[in-house]
Amino acid sequence: MAIDTRPPNREQATEVWRDQLRQRRATSSAPVTVDRPGHIAADPSRRRFILRSFWTGLGVTIAAGLGLAVDFLYPRNVRGFGGPVPAGHVSDFPRGGAPQQFLSGRFLIANLDPSETRTGGSGGGAGLLALDWKCPHLGCAVPWKSDFNFDNDAGGWYRCPCHMSTYTRSGIRVHGPAPRSMDTMAVEIDEAGNITVQTGQISRGGPDNPERAIEHPLLPA
Ligand code: FES
Repeated sequence: MAIDTRPPNREQATEVWRDQLRQRRATSSAPVTVDRPGHIAADPSRRRFILRSFWTGLGVTIAAGLGLAVDFLYPRNVRGFGGPVPAGHVSDFPRGGAPQQFLSGRFLIANLDPSETRTGGSGGGAGLLALDWKCPHLGCAVPWKSDFNFDNDAGGWYRCPCHMSTYTRSGIRVHGPAPRSMDTMAVEIDEAGNITVQTGQISRGGPDNPERAIEHPLLPA
């Protein structure tokens, strides 16, 4: 068969060009699947798996962090101020003796003598009474002043150094800007006479402070 060596005419050339253009378009709209090392094919199930793994890992990390924070902040065996504070033995507190100060628990504790009838006395209270040393006015520490003379009575008073609020041995306010009597803390005494003050159990001071004193058979009378 004879080969036609004549150059294509204009219509034939146009038709050839259109065929090539159709082929190029068909090729460019096909899904991209390039087989190269390190290339991740666009696979929806794999993408879902990666996303799920990411969110699961993030959730576990956040939950673990929260658990650690709660574990760190949760109070256990709290001792010192805010928890139980040992305050010695009942034999350490002679009846009517000077109140003793406990720095670690921020309180003062005394064995009230009901026979102390002077103005700055026990107010009839009998037994151990723990007073929060924080002044109800602005929070200064209130010391016991055994030689302080107030109202012609030198038998001892609690006297705030900041604004001179003054309190009787049972913490009753008798002078100064404090809005109430000194607050009290719960006292526990075991059978052997060991004392524990619950510094987290604070009651607002009031005229019934003397009645909050705790008696015990081993307490010096
Ligand atoms: S802080 Fe005690 S009187 Fe003001």
